[in-house]
Amino acid sequence: MRAGVTPLVEVEDLHVHFGAARAVDGASVRVLPGEVLALVGESGSGKTTLIRAIQGLQKPTSGVIRVDGTGGSSPGHVQTIFNPTVQMVFQDPTGALNPRQTIYEIVAEGLRIKRHAGSETEQVAAALSRAGLRPPERFFPLYPHEVSGGQRQRVVIAGAMVMEPRLLLADEPVASLDASIRGEILALMRRLVDETGLAILVVTHDLGLAWNIADRVAVMYLGRIVETGPTEQILENPRHPYTRALLSVVPETREMEQQILTGEIPDPARIPAGCRFHPRCPLLQSGDLPEAISSRCPIDDPGPTPLEAVSAAACWAVTSGVDSTAIGLNPG
Ligand SMILES: Nc1ncnc2c1ncn2[C@@H]1O[C@H](COP(=O)(O)OP(=O)(O)O)[C@@H](O)[C@H]1O
Ligand code: SF4
Ligand SMILES: [Mg+2]
Repeated sequence: MRAGVTPLVEVEDLHVHFGAARAVDGASVRVLPGEVLALVGESGSGKTTLIRAIQGLQKPTSGVIRVDGTGGSSPGHVQTIFNPTVQMVFQDPTGALNPRQTIYEIVAEGLRIKRHAGSETEQVAAALSRAGLRPPERFFPLYPHEVSGGQRQRVVIAGAMVMEPRLLLADEPVASLDASIRGEILALMRRLVDETGLAILVVTHDLGLAWNIADRVAVMYLGRIVETGPTEQILENPRHPYTRALLSVVPETREMEQQILTGEIPDPARIPAGCRFHPRCPLLQSGDLPEAISSRCPIDDPGPTPLEAVSAAACWAVTSGVDSTAIGLNPG
């Protein structure tokens, strides 16, 4: 971490259990001012539950969440205060917008709750233009159904940005949009970060999208971060077999050998013993791991990546220094 920089959000050893289901099971992440962290992983890995906990919508079973250097949440504490520092962008902009409100009213609403000083009209106009809806006055009287899906997501972003947040939580913000406009929305979010010093925690199940926006990537599997590192490193030199498998299905990396992940992500009520990825691990299945490691995978948990880690992979082969690129995964 850069010296003297207070993280905007710090999640430490977070657990969120639904009965026997450990949806989040010891996850730690940190986002610094002015950076974009992409949280990636298959559906069911606990990404939404983690960001709902940061937002205060989901009660943690244990662990600590610190937002903007303040207090944080003690185990079981539910943060219900209205926190304009943190704003949310959802997957489905249509569902997030009130169909009976005009775009002006939608964007102005947060300002009214916040009782912001200054001209409301000017601030709404500035937020819409910043979100790429220009000229903003043209959008004031329109209803959400009168604009395109991409423009609706820009309205959601304008409604968030008008609050001058320091942190944006975005849950699959482009998953419901046409592939052709995903890049534009991600580019907009990246520009907002570069222009305003905003930080973003963006969730995606598509590791390929991280290229467009993220400074760092955290790969989540069954409730934990199994690998974390700078985006370039994760995409060019992934170390955890799960990251390698996720990456091999990204179109831009098709030259990499395809790693078809066998089976579904397990039920979080039945997290496998040892390394939680071992029943699906292509490296373990290759049979090429030294016996000292392969015998360990099903019984010994490599543990979560620590909060402080700039770069880490929770895998016995990685921590033992086995070059996984030389065996099993890339034959020939
Ligand atoms: N309110 C809930 N009650 C019970 N199980 C839940 C609840 N919310 C999420 N889960 C379970 O937790 C796991 C993680 O879900 P989720 O956080 O939505 O993952 P992701 O966003 O990565 O797809 C899933 O198995 C899901 O079924
Ligand atoms: S610890 Fe073993 S089973 Fe787990 S990811 Fe590494 S090699 Fe695969
Ligand atoms: Mg989700």
